[in-house]
Amino acid sequence: MTQDWLVDNRGQVRPLETQAMAERETPYRLYRFLTEVEDILANNSNPQAQLQQIVPRVRYLLDHSPWIAMPIFPNPDTGWEVLMLYDEPDFPLTVQIVAWAAGTVSPIHNHGCWGLVALLDGQEQNQFWQRSEDQLETTTTQLLNPGEILTFLPDSIHQITALGDQPTISFNLYGETDYQRRFEYDPISHQAVVF
Ligand SMILES: [Fe+2]
Repeated sequence: MTQDWLVDNRGQVRPLETQAMAERETPYRLYRFLTEVEDILANNSNPQAQLQQIVPRVRYLLDHSPWIAMPIFPNPDTGWEVLMLYDEPDFPLTVQIVAWAAGTVSPIHNHGCWGLVALLDGQEQNQFWQRSEDQLETTTTQLLNPGEILTFLPDSIHQITALGDQPTISFNLYGETDYQRRFEYDPISHQAVVF
């Protein structure tokens, strides 16, 4: 059983207890997954409880829909690439496949929405941060291996490093972004900049 993780708004990581989804008789299409996630979000207001229900569906979708792990290669100019699988105006879900070139370090950022990263390939180090009284402090780290899922709350601040010698590939799911609440952070000045 693979452990899943939740990062809270203060940059602390804790295990997220989830239950595997029962086998379905019909194919688990992307639209079924999206519909179920939409219902979970509508019927429950607790983010942790929502993610506990969403994580098993992500794992089932990835296990039963190999087409999702489509070829993707990091852009040599930026070190990363995004394939948008689903993004519809006024629908609070975004689904992406993301690649980071080996050795690439992301900016320190939050997302202004809950998020989920399921690692498909490579190895990803996650550094977490906390901001209090305008100071940015590191809290903890979490290594992510293929098959593992990391979820985070809207104000959790993180930075990823693609380890090893091959790109990291991940399936990323995000809720509805609050663009006033989404920041990149400067580790020297501790300033937050909307991005
Ligand atoms: Fe991120």
